[in-house]
Amino acid sequence: MSTGASTGSSSPPRLAVLASGTGSNLEAIIAADLPVALVLTDRSCHAMDIARRHNIPAAVIDRRRFGFRPRTSWDRAGFTKAVMSELQDRRIDLVAMAGFMTVLEGTIFATFQERILNTHPSLLPRFRGHDAVPQALSARVNVTGCTVHIATPALDSGRILAQATVPVLAGDTEASLHERIKTAERRVYPAAIRDYLTEIAPSP
Ligand code: GRF
Repeated sequence: MSTGASTGSSSPPRLAVLASGTGSNLEAIIAADLPVALVLTDRSCHAMDIARRHNIPAAVIDRRRFGFRPRTSWDRAGFTKAVMSELQDRRIDLVAMAGFMTVLEGTIFATFQERILNTHPSLLPRFRGHDAVPQALSARVNVTGCTVHIATPALDSGRILAQATVPVLAGDTEASLHERIKTAERRVYPAAIRDYLTEIAPSP
C-alpha cells in the first residue's frame, strides 16, 4: 500500500472507488475533484463507463472468476486477495466503497486498517445489510437517511463519519425512497471523504 496518506509524505493521496452498479456516487466523487486514481468493480457495470469517460484507470475483477454463484459458497478469500493486490499495485491510500455489492474478507480491513470507507443507505445502526431501504419501509419510519462510516469486517459497522436524514413520504416505493437517499449520499459522501483525507493526511 502506498504510505503517502499515513506518513504525511508530500505525494498527493490516491483514492480508489469500489462500485458495482450505476455509479452515481462515483460520479459525485469525481465531480468533487477528489483524487480518484482507480475505479474497481466486481462486474461489468455503468460505474466502469463513468471511469472510462473520465479517463480514470479502471479494473474489473469479476467475482465469477472466483466461482461466485448466488447462494453458493465461492472463493471469497481469493477474490479479496485479488482486490487487495490491485489496490497495492496502484499505491492506493484510501478506498471508498460506493455501492460495492460484494462482502470482502477480513484480511483487507487489517491491511487497509481505517483506510476503507463506505456509504450505507440508512441511519446506522438501524437497518444494516443489503436491504436497508425495504427495511425502513417495512418499519414505517418517518425519517431515514444515509451514513458514511469506516468499514470493518463487521458489516455496516465502524466509526461513523457523517450522516444525513431524509424524509419517508406517503406512497414511497423502494425506488423513490432510495433515490431520495442517494441524492443525500451524493452530497454527504464526497464531503466526508475530503474531510477524512484531511484527517489522515493533513496538508503541510
Ligand atoms: C447507494 O445507495 C449505496 O449506499 C448503496 O448502493 C447505492 C449505490 O448507488 N450501497 P450508486 O451506484 O452510487 O448510484
